[in-house]
Amino acid sequence: MRNLDENTITDAVLARLAQATDERLKEIVTSLVRHLHAFARETHLTEAEWEAGIRFLTEVGHITDEKRQEFILLSDTLGLSTLVTAMNHRKPAGCTEATVFGPFFVDNAPVYNNGDDVANGAQGEPCFVSGVVRGLEGEPVSGARIEVWQADEAGFYDVQYDNNDTHRARGVLHSLPDGRYHFRSIVGVPYPIPHDGPVGSMLDALGRHPWRPAHLHFMITAPGYERLVTHVFREDDRYLDSDAVFGVRSSLIAPWRQHASGTAPDGTHMTTPFATLEFDFVLNRAS
Ligand code: BEZ
Ligand code: FE
Repeated sequence: MRNLDENTITDAVLARLAQATDERLKEIVTSLVRHLHAFARETHLTEAEWEAGIRFLTEVGHITDEKRQEFILLSDTLGLSTLVTAMNHRKPAGCTEATVFGPFFVDNAPVYNNGDDVANGAQGEPCFVSGVVRGLEGEPVSGARIEVWQADEAGFYDVQYDNNDTHRARGVLHSLPDGRYHFRSIVGVPYPIPHDGPVGSMLDALGRHPWRPAHLHFMITAPGYERLVTHVFREDDRYLDSDAVFGVRSSLIAPWRQHASGTAPDGTHMTTPFATLEFDFVLNRAS
């Protein structure tokens, strides 16, 4: 194949893919090439713009390591993560909706008993969280593995602190025989996604802010049920309608109720004000 020009290059590349034996890979790369070429044609991409794009992706790669996943941030801020989540988690009405995973989950978080304080030293107003895990027919789900993770009052996850070696404001619990779960943590606050790298510069250049509304992350798994990765968002947060990563769903918004000092739901005498949050989860059947 020689003398390719702007009219023949796309078909030439697609023809070169014909011998790929992995059919799914072939389908994905074929579509990617078609869309990439269409994008360059539609925007009439200049060489300087192509170079800027390569520089940007190089910076995204350079800042990415095991603690900082700039490619996920890029996917999140372009809405790709929400699109992929939505397409892959179509559920019957009544199920708790899924939302983006985010980059701050870690494996091997400590296992707690119901009633424990998962904050484990993370700073913030105390918050007592409780609810029930059920299936679609209303059946309580006993022994569901509930992983929770959240930012502290400064808006940082434990993994964002230098030399951090303690799991704070994250943990694993199991629902009780009646499906209930309850734990103590801290009140979530709105926070900006990491924006000191190329994705932050991109948001700046586009006139976009990096803020997420206050939320708690949950991942719930139980035999016979589809894994649920979701958040619970705080009612009345100013960023609910402009989440930097497009993750908010109305069904996931709940009130964090404020209480003066006194007796907490678990009987603890609180000498400072505290909050409570109740949220029930409904799991889809495994397919
Ligand atoms: C998070 O909520 O932890 C998150 C999600 C997407 C991008 C950055 C952070
Ligand atoms: Fe988060």
